Amino acid sequence: MNCATPNATDPRLATDLCGVRLRTPILTASGTCGYGPEYADVLDYRRLGGFTTKSVTLRERPGNNPERIVEVRAGMLNAIGLANVGMDRFMVEKLPFIRTMPTAVFVNVAGHSMDDYVRVAETLDGADGLAGIELNVSCPNVSDGLMFGTDARLLRELVAAVRGVTRRGKLIVKLTPNVTDICDLARAAIDGGADALSMINTYVGMAIDTQNWKPMLANVTGGLSGPAIRPLALYLIHRVYRGVAREAKIPIIGMGGIQSTRDAIEFFLVGASAVAVGTALFIDPTLPVKIADGLCEYLESKNLQSVSELIGQVKLPA
Ligand SMILES: Cc1cc2nc3c(=O)[nH]c(=O)nc-3n(C[C@H](O)[C@H](O)[C@H](O)COP(=O)(O)O)c2cc1C
Repeated sequence: MNCATPNATDPRLATDLCGVRLRTPILTASGTCGYGPEYADVLDYRRLGGFTTKSVTLRERPGNNPERIVEVRAGMLNAIGLANVGMDRFMVEKLPFIRTMPTAVFVNVAGHSMDDYVRVAETLDGADGLAGIELNVSCPNVSDGLMFGTDARLLRELVAAVRGVTRRGKLIVKLTPNVTDICDLARAAIDGGADALSMINTYVGMAIDTQNWKPMLANVTGGLSGPAIRPLALYLIHRVYRGVAREAKIPIIGMGGIQSTRDAIEFFLVGASAVAVGTALFIDPTLPVKIADGLCEYLESKNLQSVSELIGQVKLPA
């Protein structure tokens, strides 16, 4: 077997992610590729490991006012504000296309109350053709103003409540890096019943226009993504893998600034079982396929039979 003609469906790339069979371990990250039709002409979904939709909330949301995206030196700040069509329109307008996509699809779910999350998750779990849901927990809870993803007790409760209505699909919990000790939150998500963790969401940041002294984003702050956060994401995955996930046997989907096969391999070596590409899709929407092809060549060059031989294998000093 060789990768002289790189083929993303090479069996060495096949990955089992908490019971979901992925053709490759390279996915798209939520919010950077819409609901599927947007990239269908440019990204070959038959060669993609998995697709994650934009966050869906119970009710339709217009999102924040512009400017909602600002390019910064090594990445991007966004304050989209969860603009999305809402669950009812998602089921009618988006799901039919998603069901035709020849790749595993995870629907990202966001909410501002426990009930919001549970209602959306329950509806999605009843729908055919989805691999599972990814919980975006970087939202404040309306009842107490706390962020679900920054309070371990609240997060465990939320995940347990969603777990209770998620019977058919897998439940991925997406962790925010904007916390003191991400291992506490990873543990809470696992205790609540998560099948997998994804990490990381964006870091809170700002950019200022020095001509008019105003914030560049109408929302003042936004989420930083792209290469600027890659070493930070790598470190947090390293910590969560060694501190929590490895022992609990819960896989991690790694993301944060991945732009190349080499970047992806770094994430596997610190403990990610799969990776997702987000901001880099704005530069090259075909990147997940190129990264998979490069990964196949890398496995060939190292005489490895499977990506699983890389996971968590970083050689640390004694
Ligand atoms: C424009 C934009 C919109 C995003 N929207 C969402 C979203 O709706 N839900 C979510 O969980 N993450 C969202 N994210 C976060 C990404 O999924 C990802 O976690 C983060 O950007 C880090 O990966 P990256 O550096 O490869 O983009 C968004 C990111 C960007 C850049």
